[in-house]
Amino acid sequence: MDLYEYQGRELFARHGLPVLGGGVAQTPEEAAAIAERVGRQVVVKAQVKVGGRGKAGGVKLADTVEEARARAADILGMDIKGHIVHKVMVTEAADIAEEYYFSYLLDRANRTFLCIASVAGGMEIEQVAHDTPEKVIKTPVDASKGVDEALAREIVTKAGFPAEVTDQVVDIAVKLWRAFVAEDATLVEVNPLARTPDGRVLCLDAKVTLDDNASFRHPDHEAWEDKSAVDPLEQAAKQKDLNYVKLDGEVGIIGNGAGLVMSTLDVVAYAGEEFGGVKPANFLDIGGGASAEVMANGLEIVLSDPSVRSVFVNVFGGITACDAVANGILAAFDLLASRGETVTKPLVVRLDGNNAEEGRRILDSAANPLVQRVDTMDGAARRAAELAAAGI
Ligand SMILES: Nc1ncnc2c1ncn2[C@@H]1O[C@H](COP(=O)(O)OP(=O)(O)OP(=O)(O)O)[C@@H](O)[C@H]1O
Ligand SMILES: [Mg+2]
Repeated sequence: MDLYEYQGRELFARHGLPVLGGGVAQTPEEAAAIAERVGRQVVVKAQVKVGGRGKAGGVKLADTVEEARARAADILGMDIKGHIVHKVMVTEAADIAEEYYFSYLLDRANRTFLCIASVAGGMEIEQVAHDTPEKVIKTPVDASKGVDEALAREIVTKAGFPAEVTDQVVDIAVKLWRAFVAEDATLVEVNPLARTPDGRVLCLDAKVTLDDNASFRHPDHEAWEDKSAVDPLEQAAKQKDLNYVKLDGEVGIIGNGAGLVMSTLDVVAYAGEEFGGVKPANFLDIGGGASAEVMANGLEIVLSDPSVRSVFVNVFGGITACDAVANGILAAFDLLASRGETVTKPLVVRLDGNNAEEGRRILDSAANPLVQRVDTMDGAARRAAELAAAGI
C-alpha cells in the first residue's frame, strides 16, 4: 500500500523524524483553519499518490490565512496525471538552503535492501542518476545487520553531505531505517530532505510504501487504507481471505493455486480472441483447501461482478481431491441459494488430477443445467469464452 504524503509524514513523526507541523484538509475552510493554527507562512500541497506535484502546480506557498484558503481552493479538484486531488496538506513553510535525497527500499533484483543517498535532491532521483550518476550513492543494507550509526556515517560521508549537517543526517538515517523495519515498509523516501539557512535538517516530503503481506502485524495501518479507491469486490474478497483481483473482462475465473490461475487467464484471453475479444473478468485463487464454503465465497464474489457473463472453474486436484471439489461446487449452489442468491450464469468446470474421475461423475450425476463439464483446459476456456460472448 502506498501512503499519501500526510500519512507518511505521520509515520515519520511517530519515529522521531523531523517533520513540520500542519494538517490535512478536504475543504478550503479546513485549510484556512490549519494555516491559522500554524500562524505563519504555509505550503499547501496536493495529496495524490504520484510524483511531480510541484511541477504540476500542486505545491503552493501561502503567506496569509486567506491565501491558504485560496490556494487550497485552486488545488482541490485539480487533476494531476490522472489523479484528482481530494485532500491538501497544509504545513509550515521551510526556508530552504539546500535539498538532499535519502531513501531505503527493497531491492528485489539483488535480494537485499538498498539505501540511496544524494546531496542533489529536490528533483527526480532517476534524472539525477541519469545525468550525474556519481552524485547518487547506493549502499546495500544487510537485513540482519541493518543500519547502525557507523554504517549511517559511512553512507553520509560517501554521499558528501556538508560537515555541518552530518550528525543530523546520520541521526535521520538511523531513525528512518528503524521506521522502515518497524512498519514493514518496502520504501521510505525523503525528497527533499532540506537544510534550512539556520542549519536544521527537515523531512519536507514523505513517500512510503507498506508491505501488505505484513498488514496483520499492523492493525493501525488499516486506518490509512484508501477505502474509496479500493474496488468493493476486492474489499469483500479480502474480508473472506480470498486472493482476488478484479480485471475488466467478462469470464469469471476460479482456480486453485496462483500459477494455475495465471495460466488460466492466458488461455481464456487467447480463446476469447475468437469470440470478439472476450477476456478474463478477474483473478481468483481459492488456494489448496477449496472447501464448499471457500468455493461458495469465491463464486459469490465472482458472480456478483455485473460484467461476468460466464465462469470458468479450473481445478487441479491435489491434497483436496476432485470429488471434494465437485461436492464443494454443488454445495456452493445450495449455500448461495440459502443466502438468497440465485445463480443464473453458466459455469464451465474442468477437473483434473487427484480423483478426477469421481469428481466428474459427481458433477454429471447432479446434472445441474448451469454446470458444463469440459475435460481439457483449452476446451474449457474456449467454451467459457463462447458462453460469455453469447451472454453479452
Ligand atoms: N514545507 C515546505 N516548505 C517549503 N518548501 C517546500 C515544502 N514542501 C515542499 N516544498 C518545495 O516544493 C517542492 C516539491 O514538493 P515535494 O517534493 O513534496 O513534492 P513532489 O511531488 O515530490 O514534487 P516534485 O516531484 O515536483 O519535486 C520541494 O522540492 C520543495 O522545494
Ligand atoms: Mg518530492
